[in-house]
Amino acid sequence: MRRLLIAGNWKMHKTPSEARVWFRELKRLLPPLASEVALLPAFPILPYAREAFQDTQVAYGAQDVSAHREGAYTGEVSARMLADLGCRYTIVGHSERRKHHQETDALVREKLLRLLEEGITPILCVGEPLEVRERGEAVPYTLGQLAAALEGVDLQDPRQLVVAYEPVWAIGTGKNAAPLDAEEMHQAIRSALSKRYGEGFAARVRILYGGSVNPGNFASLLSMPNVDGGLVGGASLGLESFLALLRIAG
Ligand code: 13P
Repeated sequence: MRRLLIAGNWKMHKTPSEARVWFRELKRLLPPLASEVALLPAFPILPYAREAFQDTQVAYGAQDVSAHREGAYTGEVSARMLADLGCRYTIVGHSERRKHHQETDALVREKLLRLLEEGITPILCVGEPLEVRERGEAVPYTLGQLAAALEGVDLQDPRQLVVAYEPVWAIGTGKNAAPLDAEEMHQAIRSALSKRYGEGFAARVRILYGGSVNPGNFASLLSMPNVDGGLVGGASLGLESFLALLRIAG
């Protein structure tokens, strides 16, 4: 019922020239897949993503977007610009933005709305820091982020949203969430979505897991019924490891 999505968040890695070569190689080596693949490189790489992947099975998008539609906002990139480049997805609320750029839930919600206005599917990141998990409050904390970002947001079609559960302590640490802990959170997220948008909607929204996904742990994470793919950082940068993840997803 839910097509798996494997999304590579490249963060601030690779130059446009490096990416262009990588894209060509990926196209050459990509096996036919039942799952969906998306690449989320830095802004200056997006025109090359379009060049490589327009009219292919590979989707692409950005890692962030401005909360403003247009205007005197030096350094910002609008949802309309991303739509013009053919972005299908864009991340909002990544914990690195929340931490290093003081992004609040209210700002994340604005960004999500800008994407929806342009028909781009937000990949909404939520997830708890270590001290919150240690206090036993991971589920309410994460559901609080979800509720705040979706407050008053009207969604009709489950393809309009992807949620990514990314526990902060698992990002870039080599320490992934145990599959059953991820499953518990994904179930809680799905049931919160069901209360907000109805059961039929929630049953079809994809909830990705992110945080130290690699070819060694991906199969066990994907074996969980509510884990619908991965938002992958480090392991999406190398062709070999990314292709290995895609083969595991199938
Ligand atoms: P890593 O896979 O490098 O832990 O990063 C996860 C992430 O932040 C994806 O958005």
